[in-house]
Amino acid sequence: MNTDMAGIARTCRADATAVGAFNAILLEHAEAIVAGAEDAGLPVVLQLSQNAASYHGALTPIARGALAIAEAASVPVTVHLDHAEDEALVDEALALGIRSVMFDASRASYPENVRRTAEVVARCHAVGCWVEAELGEVGGKDGAHAPGVRTDPAEAAAFVAATGVDALAIAVGSSHAMSSREAVLDDGLIARIRDAVDVPLVLHGSSGVPDDGLVSAVRHGITKVNVGTRLNVVLTEQVRRVLAERPDVTDPRTYLTPGRDAVRAEVARLLRLLGPAGA
Ligand code: G3H
Ligand code: ZN
Repeated sequence: MNTDMAGIARTCRADATAVGAFNAILLEHAEAIVAGAEDAGLPVVLQLSQNAASYHGALTPIARGALAIAEAASVPVTVHLDHAEDEALVDEALALGIRSVMFDASRASYPENVRRTAEVVARCHAVGCWVEAELGEVGGKDGAHAPGVRTDPAEAAAFVAATGVDALAIAVGSSHAMSSREAVLDDGLIARIRDAVDVPLVLHGSSGVPDDGLVSAVRHGITKVNVGTRLNVVLTEQVRRVLAERPDVTDPRTYLTPGRDAVRAEVARLLRLLGPAGA
């Protein structure tokens, strides 16, 4: 079932657990993300980034597919627009029925980030849409951001108060698009931001964080864990394997089926890692 982000976040915060939020580029990702959540019996966030929409030429085709997959799921699924840098794309998502968005003006100056984010929050809240925003760039996005950037707790509190956002993505040591899992997070900083800010905290670039680092980050106050690259690593491993074993293959289903299965297994594994003990 398609569900709202507020309910998922509320449960996670009460349990001191986190929800996995996974990026889909292809329909196969979306299918695997929801199937993995059903295997784990846990809620999931199915994310579509502005980059993914650009790849398809528009948000609508992949979003309609994702919303239909979410609707048919046996577990709660929130379809979320991720890293939207353009207000027009947020409006498009709202028109499609998406009710969770991340508006990312983190490249702008602080006052500009506040002004644009507050405007998006007003538009989204008018239709009951949850808004996540980012303060302090999470390194590595498009290769243009410094991995050393960190979110300041006092500034985070001021930003949440000034914008009215429902969740905050913070820079605490992770970096986007890492295919190796060696990032070291500043758990002390996560805890200080959690104590200063009254909205759920979001970790981006989680593919580069090892399992024990993710568990510790959740323990220190992270509520939503965004994973993209890791899914592509396991999918592409399978595609490479099949094509190496059978160079004659031409039907994409032959290599995408094991790729999709691998994504499904990794989603289920990560959701169990982040979710309630014993899930
Ligand atoms: O918003 C998406 C996430 O931050 C994904 O980052 O591809 O490095 O896991 P990642
Ligand atoms: Zn991100």
